[in-house]
Amino acid sequence: DKGGYRHFMLKEIFEQPAVLSRTLQGRISKTRVMEQAFGADAEKIFDQVKGVQIVACGTSYHAGLVAKYWLESIAGLPCNVEVASEYRYRRVFVSKDTLFITISQSGETADTLAALREAKKSHYLASLVICNAPNSSLVRESDLVFMTQAGPEIGVASTKAFTTQLVALQLLTIALGRRHGLAEQTEADMVGSLASLPDQIETALGLDDTIKHVSEKFADKHHALFLGRGVEYPVAMEGALKLKEISYIHAESYPAGELKHGPLALVDANMPIVAVAPNNDLMEKLKSNLEEVQARGGKLFVFSDQADAFPSSEEVTVIDVQSVPDTIAPMVYTIPLQLLSYHVAIVKGTDVDQPRNLAKSVTVE
Ligand code: M6R
Repeated sequence: DKGGYRHFMLKEIFEQPAVLSRTLQGRISKTRVMEQAFGADAEKIFDQVKGVQIVACGTSYHAGLVAKYWLESIAGLPCNVEVASEYRYRRVFVSKDTLFITISQSGETADTLAALREAKKSHYLASLVICNAPNSSLVRESDLVFMTQAGPEIGVASTKAFTTQLVALQLLTIALGRRHGLAEQTEADMVGSLASLPDQIETALGLDDTIKHVSEKFADKHHALFLGRGVEYPVAMEGALKLKEISYIHAESYPAGELKHGPLALVDANMPIVAVAPNNDLMEKLKSNLEEVQARGGKLFVFSDQADAFPSSEEVTVIDVQSVPDTIAPMVYTIPLQLLSYHVAIVKGTDVDQPRNLAKSVTVE
């Protein structure tokens, strides 16, 4: 049932305030993360964790990449992230007391499951899955389980599963961070921001009309570049994946600092460039990267809460996102990118919920 929406994808995008609030429910108090959400043995296992290995595919892999920034900068733990199809076939070096984490909406992705089975033969401390499907293989075979509460996701393009995974990973970051010097006040601030997330996402969904407008400028394009820096780089990767998956426009993502090492050669007036640009420590750096793009005639689409920093012009479209704390910016900035890919697909007339050549759950290698 599409609940009155034209597509499952749109319904699922708009469900995010509700499912995020469900994912948080019972997992946070006013100021603290309740780590039992990760399972009865979580406390004991978390005490011993000295590092993290994350394995996943597609959108879930992008969630893992966001978590790497959080785990290293907030929890002070080393973190590796790898796509499952690579991880499962190579000899890996496992450091002592490393927690092995899989992330999966379906819990049945063949490569991710195979990676978990491989990992069990190595000397990991324990395994944890962040999953949306109860009773799935990954849930059955992992030591610790965190269930995202996104509800069934029907659209092939993953939307609400991603933002709920990010919430799960931030709760994990806090739970582990506590054991490595994360201040109680920082935890309380982060928890407060998470509690505000459903409302913030609701506000971001208000960009729908604006983005519908912007999407028309993409429909005749064959390529697009998505740029971000720091924790927003994987958000840009996810934006690019969404666009290619449902609109069939070739989209690539780059950490903006890499532009001049090659991709700048692609930039001309036919190349839309999407920038994820919240006001954070790296915004000034990003801004100068974008000036280089502009100097080559590129058309910029900047998602930012600092409209003044990127004045609109013929060449620059600024999409004004509300200002939010850094820790929840990846979730909030994901919303307009989801809407962008949706509306571009609509203009192009592609099959939004069932893109060609793709399956919702990839249970074969
Ligand atoms: O069910 P999973 O999270 O394990 O699926 C992983 C990928 O197949 C999935 O995220 C895929 O990339 C999506 N179609 C992206 O929108």
